Amino acid sequence: MTDKGHQFDPDDFETVYFQTFEAILVYFCYYKIMIDVINPVAYYDEWADVFAKQASNEKANRFEYEKNMPSLLAMSESITGDVLDFGCGAGNFSVMFQRQDRVVDGCDPSNNLLGIARESHQAINFISCNSDGEVETDKTYDLIIAKLVFHYVVDLDIILSNLSSKIKEGGHLLFSVPHPDKTQRHFNSNIKEGMYVDEVGNFGLTLTMVHRTLDRLGTLFADSNLDIVEIVTVYDNEKPKRLNVLTRKL
Ligand SMILES: C[S@@+](CC[C@H](N)C(=O)[O-])C[C@H]1O[C@@H](n2cnc3c(N)ncnc32)[C@H](O)[C@@H]1O
Repeated sequence: MTDKGHQFDPDDFETVYFQTFEAILVYFCYYKIMIDVINPVAYYDEWADVFAKQASNEKANRFEYEKNMPSLLAMSESITGDVLDFGCGAGNFSVMFQRQDRVVDGCDPSNNLLGIARESHQAINFISCNSDGEVETDKTYDLIIAKLVFHYVVDLDIILSNLSSKIKEGGHLLFSVPHPDKTQRHFNSNIKEGMYVDEVGNFGLTLTMVHRTLDRLGTLFADSNLDIVEIVTVYDNEKPKRLNVLTRKL
């Protein structure tokens, strides 16, 4: 007589094997669905109130207020005229560009964020735009800024082509993205461009983002007649955190 409980049973092994395989498959399908469903604009639209509060909290965003924003303001110090803050969110950064020699507009594809921006900063003209960079205005600009927007954009060439058409000849586009030396950690090899998933905010949500080397960014911008004129790396505890780039329309 044999005691089955102590013997290796191929049927049991098969069941456990397939249950584990099934669980892994379900997990990956769910994960993939989450990635596909939550697009960045929908995310910012849904969490607009929370994001707006966080974005205006100088303590919680010390790095942005003390290091990154001053870097971008310094890079654009000498530029006057019409300014557009593309992907302006709640408009916290747009207001910092206001000066007597500038007229500032802001735009964002999230209607909820745009509503908050309009209520909070009434002296600025907030206008609609879509996530392809089509802005609802006939104006052209001396300076377009895009702080922490382009790493959410997969088809950056489309946005750059649309934004470039809104920049005056000799005008500038200034942008800030997570530094590629930092985002490179999501990949095993030194790739020029690749999508990764990372947590955003403190809500336990993840979004798809795009890693691009400076070289890759330079090519994309050159294709839209935008020439890189200044590059600044902003450090946090001696580690590169932001890549800030000023480009000029040829
Ligand atoms: C991290 S927030 C930055 C907001 C603001 N620029 C700032 O620094 O406070 C990202 C913003 O980019 C916007 N955004 C995401 N994808 C975009 C796209 N394809 N085109 C324009 N804006 C986009 C979001 O709606 C959100 O307002």
